Amino acid sequence: MKKIVSLILVACMMLAFAGCGASDENVLKVAISPDFAPMEFVDATKSGQDSYVGFDVTLAKYIAEGLGKELELVPLSFDACQVAVQVGSVDMSISGFSWTEERAANYNLSDYYYAGDNETEQVIITTKANEGKFATAESFSGLKVAAQTASLQLALCQEQLPEDCEIIEVVDLTTAFLQLQSGEFDAMAVATGQAEVLIANNPEIAALSGFQFEVSAEYEANVIMLQKGADELTAKVNELLAAAYDAGYYGVWYEEALALAESANSQEVSYDDEGNVAG
Ligand code: ARG
Repeated sequence: MKKIVSLILVACMMLAFAGCGASDENVLKVAISPDFAPMEFVDATKSGQDSYVGFDVTLAKYIAEGLGKELELVPLSFDACQVAVQVGSVDMSISGFSWTEERAANYNLSDYYYAGDNETEQVIITTKANEGKFATAESFSGLKVAAQTASLQLALCQEQLPEDCEIIEVVDLTTAFLQLQSGEFDAMAVATGQAEVLIANNPEIAALSGFQFEVSAEYEANVIMLQKGADELTAKVNELLAAAYDAGYYGVWYEEALALAESANSQEVSYDDEGNVAG
């Protein structure tokens, strides 16, 4: 009896492994950190896989289709996305990654893709009350400025803000924005595209500080992050990116993502009897 049970168990395990291998072949796992509108964010009116939206999600769908695979988005914090690629628990991460020398040394990075004007500038946002008050790096002296762990923005803060500015690492930008509102820090370093979305959706709460980082041109476009040595997959991804560029998809995807990001809090708007926005 015991023998039969253990034989059945072994058979089950073999089937499970076979199933696992097969589904791995057909599924493209893409890590995203959905706290970076308009690149990747959450549509709270939807649930599960459908709730992840934005430019990079559209791009991920396009890549999966081009590779003939089913897409599985794996939501993780931005730093965890990078670890997941490194250890190979996902096939790639598409999460608004800027090219950096350090990343190029540790990962396979795709060719550039053009994400609208999302990262043409890197700025610091602050509370509405402090709008425009911090136009120079020195004006952050003695203040608390937040930036995301393992991000370009964090590196820029460390390089360009004064020594006595307290730089606070945050794991999740959605939470960080709430912390800015509640006064846990004075300001937050973000990409232009995200600054525009946050300010458009929360005009009474957030505003530009007046400061903009000095950033070289190589950081303006984004790249897809793959495991070091995944050369065949990287080459296929690059072919697909080139085809998307030739077809003129990038501009369309960005405009769509931006429109969706800026209407994301439309539930909070109230209307009068004529259907005009009230207040
Ligand atoms: N472009 C910046 C970087 O590469 C920020 C990207 C943040 N992305 C995100 N999904 N939170 O570091």
